[in-house]
Amino acid sequence: MQTILITGASGFVGSRFFRRWAGEYTILAPSHAELDITDRASVEGYFAFHTPQTVLHLAALSNTAYCEQHPEESYKVNVLGTENLARAAAARGIKFVFFSSDQIYNGNLETGLLSECVAVAPENHYGRHKLLAEQRAFEHAPDAVALRATWMYDDEREGLPVHPNFVMNFQRALHEGAQLTFPVREYRGITWVKEAVEFLPRTFSLAGGVYNYGAENRLNTYETACCYFEMLGRSERPESVIIADADRYPEHERNIAISNEKIFAASNGAIFFSDTLDGLRIFAESRK
Ligand SMILES: NC(=O)c1ccc[n+]([C@@H]2O[C@H](COP(=O)([O-])OP(=O)(O)OC[C@H]3O[C@@H](n4cnc5c(N)ncnc54)[C@H](OP(=O)(O)O)[C@@H]3O)[C@@H](O)[C@H]2O)c1
Repeated sequence: MQTILITGASGFVGSRFFRRWAGEYTILAPSHAELDITDRASVEGYFAFHTPQTVLHLAALSNTAYCEQHPEESYKVNVLGTENLARAAAARGIKFVFFSSDQIYNGNLETGLLSECVAVAPENHYGRHKLLAEQRAFEHAPDAVALRATWMYDDEREGLPVHPNFVMNFQRALHEGAQLTFPVREYRGITWVKEAVEFLPRTFSLAGGVYNYGAENRLNTYETACCYFEMLGRSERPESVIIADADRYPEHERNIAISNEKIFAASNGAIFFSDTLDGLRIFAESRK
């Protein structure tokens, strides 16, 4: 059985990866206390005693607002932590696969689905640190695989950790009788984490490089929310729950919607994400 080291095993993606794949791989899943990725000596020490075939690096400070307020901490975990792991993995010939983010595109002015080839200039610390993490990882490990993931969602049904996400925000608002505001000038893919986790082992054999990872979406976030609301079959009028915010992102539309053509082709069609609306529909059906 192949041995995989995952970081961030207690997190949103890591906990789901572990539950889905534990029977099919030997998974090393050290806690933050057992392996602090920001501590280079701790990382080197860990690899002295463990020899996985693949490192799947999921640990991060993943909250963009928190990173904006704590840039030094974000740099330490998101950039140096990734670099420490990439260096240690590359020195031992271990494949290094890690999560980057679609937030790398948040300074882009292009419209339509973005490919990995576009020049990027992220506008917040999280995006800049994810970009820097990619660059540092490739300096050490040219055959590393960076997955620029979209925003992901799930609910609490599996009893695994969740943080605020598209479907949970809806659940909470509907439960509390509150309204939700969605930006009209924002375009982004939104992916059921189950799909992202399902395809992860197929990323281990990809050639080194950057890959968009997740659902495409041609609708803006407000339109996406209206469509999802309809799928829920609620009796409330959509406008009593969903508010359009046309003022957010006044400087330029925020388009971080990804094209996933590259990973589809590179995996010979083995990695095929549902479009955002299709994914939401499948998710909504699974919860009825
Ligand atoms: N969730 C999304 O929608 C989304 C979207 C795009 C990209 N991503 C990226 O996908 C990856 C996984 O995200 P996620 O949502 O699963 O994150 P998460 O739920 O916030 O989990 C982060 C994990 O990292 C661990 N961690 C933090 N600092 C650490 C350190 N110094 N050393 C070792 N472990 C540390 C945490 O452990 P403790 O809790 O014990 O500190 C936790 O297990 C991240 O790279 C994230 O940036 C996520």
